[in-house]
Amino acid sequence: MDVANRVAVVTGGASGIGRELCLALASRGAAGVVVADVDAQGSVAVAETIRSLGQKAVAVTADVSREPDVQGLVSRAEEAFGRIDLFCSNAGIIVAGGVEVPDAAWSRIWAVNVQSHVYVARAVLPGMLARGEGYLVITASAAGLLTQLGSAPYAVTKHAAVALAEWLAISYGDQGIGVSCLCPQAVTTNLGATSQRELPGGTGGSPPRTETVGSVSLQAALDGVLTPDQVAVSVIDGLAAERFLILPHPEVATYERRRAEDRDRWLGGMRRLQARLAEKS
Ligand SMILES: NC(=O)c1ccc[n+]([C@@H]2O[C@H](COP(=O)([O-])OP(=O)(O)OC[C@H]3O[C@@H](n4cnc5c(N)ncnc54)[C@H](O)[C@@H]3O)[C@@H](O)[C@H]2O)c1
Repeated sequence: MDVANRVAVVTGGASGIGRELCLALASRGAAGVVVADVDAQGSVAVAETIRSLGQKAVAVTADVSREPDVQGLVSRAEEAFGRIDLFCSNAGIIVAGGVEVPDAAWSRIWAVNVQSHVYVARAVLPGMLARGEGYLVITASAAGLLTQLGSAPYAVTKHAAVALAEWLAISYGDQGIGVSCLCPQAVTTNLGATSQRELPGGTGGSPPRTETVGSVSLQAALDGVLTPDQVAVSVIDGLAAERFLILPHPEVATYERRRAEDRDRWLGGMRRLQARLAEKS
């Protein structure tokens, strides 16, 4: 998809990857950008920035874990711009910990990282199918293809997000619906601040190192920590190529192949990596 003259909605648009995606879509001539976030002030600020550049944008406050909010967001976008060509379902959170994480936190991360994409697909697919075209981008993570050391809820929910994106691509790909799944490793964003604690890196690729970005201590992958604007460029490129997997860190494809080729070997490598990290901390 060439994003020029397209109407796009981006959730989690107030910060990080979502914010840069909104700006990249606008600068490439999107007909309208809907900046959606639970952070009302943040989404208004991003929409104002876009309008100050002479492009069209509206801000919508929505908690994507609530289906009525997602339905309201879709209605508001259609009211403002007539249709939705591209929906980037990007909002996400991280919760640190393993099976001891309380049920309420598991439910919350499931609702934000998985169920929100179900609500989005339910709300936008009918219109897209009727028009015979439309595009969904689901932001998962390299953790959804590999794992997330230190966070079972993140690993599990991001795997589920990848599974849903694949299922949508298979089910609707022949009816004009494009689907891409964005799976970065470490990116310098506010993810930790906005969702308790940040744990990018350690996704199953090369060994992480500790790095401080702002006030957040990151376990950043040796493959490099990308900035959100770099990730946004990867998304625009992935959309142009209509590629399912968008991998801003290309190494992730190799790690995923190694994991599939010999799961026991990969698990052993991940245990060694985890032990090395535990020694360092
Ligand atoms: N930062 C990384 O290293 C990294 C790596 C891989 C994947 N991701 C994924 O990228 C996506 C964007 O995260 P980011 O890194 O830009 O973090 P971020 O915290 O900077 O941005 C996330 C935005 O989502 C919003 N949000 C959170 N819960 C919401 C909800 N229920 N409804 C609406 N908005 C909500 C937040 O307010 C915030 O503005 C997430 O899905 C995250 O899991 C991030």
